[in-house]
Amino acid sequence: MSNPIIALDNITVTFQQKKRAITAVNNVSIHVERGDVYGIVGYSGAGKSTLVRVINLLQEPTSGSVVVNGETFFQADDTSSKKVRIATNDLRTRRRKIGMIFQHFNLLNERTVTENVAFALQHSKLTDKQRKEKVKELLELVDLSDRAEQYPSQLSGGQKQRVAIARALANDPEILISDEATSALDPKTTNQILALLKKLNQELGLTIVLITHEMQAVKEIANKVAVMQDGEIIERGTLLEIFAKPTAQLTKEFIETATNIDKAITTISAQPLIQNLHDDDLFVRLSYVGDTTDEPLIAGLFRDFQVTANILYGNVEVLQNTPVGSLLVILSGVPDKIKAATSTLADHHVEIEVLKGGK
Ligand SMILES: Nc1ncnc2c1ncn2[C@@H]1O[C@H](COP(=O)(O)OP(=O)(O)O)[C@@H](O)[C@H]1O
Ligand SMILES: [Mg+2]
Repeated sequence: MSNPIIALDNITVTFQQKKRAITAVNNVSIHVERGDVYGIVGYSGAGKSTLVRVINLLQEPTSGSVVVNGETFFQADDTSSKKVRIATNDLRTRRRKIGMIFQHFNLLNERTVTENVAFALQHSKLTDKQRKEKVKELLELVDLSDRAEQYPSQLSGGQKQRVAIARALANDPEILISDEATSALDPKTTNQILALLKKLNQELGLTIVLITHEMQAVKEIANKVAVMQDGEIIERGTLLEIFAKPTAQLTKEFIETATNIDKAITTISAQPLIQNLHDDDLFVRLSYVGDTTDEPLIAGLFRDFQVTANILYGNVEVLQNTPVGSLLVILSGVPDKIKAATSTLADHHVEIEVLKGGK
């Protein structure tokens, strides 16, 4: 039996503008298991922020139910006006167990790093001494002990985000919501922050909901992915499922950007080799998960079918300890044999997408 730490069911959020209603989130259900790093990917305006703000009721849904840690925060169906809502005082304490970090850090500029983190403890029951100790521990955790007395203006973007993470963890939350937390950072700093989030997930068992418009970020640390478009989740699955067998066009786009295969396809397609592709040749993309396509399979194409495979580009990602590969290949041979060869590949769970040839 699954026992999700976050259960959003049939969530709809409609904003009433002057004359028209905007449905930012349309009947979305999402269940996050304890220990998940759940990535929600989508372009700007897809409804990601609105959806995650529903988790701690910063955004009250128009309808749907919000259950966190087995406790109903909110429940309203769209047919009746009856609403169940957690008591305001309870919500205040529950929210402290749901940390949030954002793209723009939201630090207090006139306070030091220590004061920024301590600020999150203003309602805690800790003594002054315990608070100091707690802040010290948190700064150690995010590797900022040497910056304790500095002000945000003296810090880099990555360091500011570390302060925000320390602050978000001050009340020992079980859930951390990261809303585009790496979107303002350069790639190297992004990877450092993602590595820190992964460490927190593994060492503290922190459940993370990671919102981003970059599949790259999700690829690094998420175990599950949902793709959001126009207020709806159009595809979801484990990281491997999504990378191995994306079905929605948008998901494919996100993945191709994350793996750089889109650039490779564009570059290689422009080359004379492809421009002047031989009549019977096929320019294909082979995609596989696990160790299915190693040399022997490609070598077997020649041995069994006299089909040569000219590999023009290869990319292997290791996602959750499993290789996920893409090869751009020209298959040459007798048409019938090429057909037999591709069906053998398919039998070995290699996905084949014809990019050119074979009309
Ligand atoms: N408070 C609000 N009032 C009116 N419209 C809003 C409000 N918040 C968000 N929206 C609209 O809802 C849609 C989804 O926004 P948002 O959740 O911020 O998307 P994302 O985080 O994926 O970029 C957008 O069309 C946005 O303009
Ligand atoms: Mg947003």
